[in-house]
Amino acid sequence: MKIKSDILVIGSGIAGLSFALKTAKKFPLKKINIITKGEALESNTKYAQGGIATVYDLNKDSFEAHIKDTMVAGDHLNDPEIVKMVITQAKERLDELLQWGVDFDKDDKGNFDLGKEGGHSKNRIFHHKDITGFEIEQSLLKKVKNLPNVSFYPYHFAIDLITEHQVFGDLIDLESEKTVFGAYVLDEKDKQVKTFIAKYVMLATGGSGQVYKTTTNPFVATGDGIGMAYRAKAKIADMEFVQFHPTALYNPGESPAFLISEAVRGYGGKLFNRKGERFMTRYDERLELAPRDIVAKAIDSEMKKYGDDFVLLDVSHLNYTDFIKHFPNITKKCQSLGIDIRKDRIPVVPAAHYQMGGIVVDKNAKTSIKNLYASGEVSRTGLHGANRLASNSLLEALVFSHNAAQDLEKNFDENYKLPSIPEWIDTSAHRNMEKILITHDTNEVKTIMTNYVGIVRSNERLLRALRRLYVLYQDNKRLYDHAELTTELLELRNLITTAYLIVEFSRKRKENKGGFYNMDLDKKTKDTYQ
Ligand code: FAD
Ligand code: SIN
Repeated sequence: MKIKSDILVIGSGIAGLSFALKTAKKFPLKKINIITKGEALESNTKYAQGGIATVYDLNKDSFEAHIKDTMVAGDHLNDPEIVKMVITQAKERLDELLQWGVDFDKDDKGNFDLGKEGGHSKNRIFHHKDITGFEIEQSLLKKVKNLPNVSFYPYHFAIDLITEHQVFGDLIDLESEKTVFGAYVLDEKDKQVKTFIAKYVMLATGGSGQVYKTTTNPFVATGDGIGMAYRAKAKIADMEFVQFHPTALYNPGESPAFLISEAVRGYGGKLFNRKGERFMTRYDERLELAPRDIVAKAIDSEMKKYGDDFVLLDVSHLNYTDFIKHFPNITKKCQSLGIDIRKDRIPVVPAAHYQMGGIVVDKNAKTSIKNLYASGEVSRTGLHGANRLASNSLLEALVFSHNAAQDLEKNFDENYKLPSIPEWIDTSAHRNMEKILITHDTNEVKTIMTNYVGIVRSNERLLRALRRLYVLYQDNKRLYDHAELTTELLELRNLITTAYLIVEFSRKRKENKGGFYNMDLDKKTKDTYQ
């Protein structure tokens, strides 16, 4: 079945929805399709807690300070032009969110109640209690669903981008620039592959935290966009930089891991090891509010030193009434596990949280494939460098989706005629493979990545990971060629590709920076971090 539109958006998080909202308004006569692999609401965006970093009042904060904090957190691998562009545009994007009905907390005087997080020199985080992402996601969805020229396709899984490769087969020149013409998409309910054709495509499929065992990312974050882009030969960069959030709640068996927002440390939360030492004093003068890579590495090291499964976050010295007002969801979660934060310390562990690398885009979110944009966590814009500053991600998605919509308004080619696009060719033998094999392989990817490609890596660990992933890749290819296509199988295919890219980029990196640490590259600290 062929489904045509002018613009196809893949993904319904903040990047996809804000782009769809803008383009639908700019092009009221053009048709926009949004496909998303689960329920429309399900996304990393929905779980964002801390908020959005924005310099709003120049009397109290400055662009220069936010720029400096972003560059320091990113270990100066950031692109300075992009950092400046994003940070100076933030107020405009935040005002737009307010116009779209997003509610941010205010204090008793009616001023925005700005939070603080690791690596920020000022309070500049706009938030809605501790459920900022949910507030944004549902406000955007409400708006987008009311637009007459937008159609929504939930439970539609994008398998692959359509480029010259599928249209012209072996006749294509492998070296020439590629163009996107749409995507092949599995309708998860009907179990048929549909051909979504469009002149322009926005890829906004989010991150890949699910390649690790312990992650804050929901089940949809399986690196599908990276897998699709890699197979379509788009340029990809910085995949070695994976951000581990220092403080996910330690609750064995719960997946994804529940996040204890960095804003809790910004509010005064302190970290202790099992011996009762405030160990951050040994690692960084900024203590609990050092950038994430430093705090996560310190926790990982303390856990290994004492053979512990977690460290402890203490908020018992803070005013309980005020704390609940700011963090009602976190308080409720702790209560549900019998943790009384007035006297009990909260057990926390680092968890895979954010993918800094991704599909390379320019300032207008254009990828190396013609007519393909990418925005949000799937993209590599140059904002984050080697480690993302807290609460810069929602902002990045808003800015790049805005720029992409502006770019499309300027450059939409009315005369452009798409070539004839073939339907999906089903070559599989439709054999019903045991589902458990896919589950085993998925668990194996997570185990390999957690054991060998975590916070601390080494040449030997990376080589082991590569060898084991290769075996899984071959098994998956066989399954893909012969078995009935299912979401689980397709996700596994993308998890393996993403894991492979993280390993290969890690093997190529010859200097430790930000979120990347290979102990073989650092003789000095070899004894500190294990
Ligand atoms: P997502 O919001 O993840 O959306 C991706 C969409 O693509 C989803 O709808 C998904 O279903 C869909 N999709 C994926 N694959 C396919 C496919 N194959 N076919 C069809 N659809 C597909 N950042 C901040 O700036 N501030 C915070 O406070 C903050 N807190 C966070 C807390 C948590 C627990 C987590 C997990 C992240 C947090 N982040 C925060 C990071 C931030 O939430 C994400 O980086 C951001 O929301 C990404 O938005 P996105 O639109 O790129 O992707
Ligand atoms: C958090 O609330 O700690 C997450 C913020 C972020 O990932 O930017």
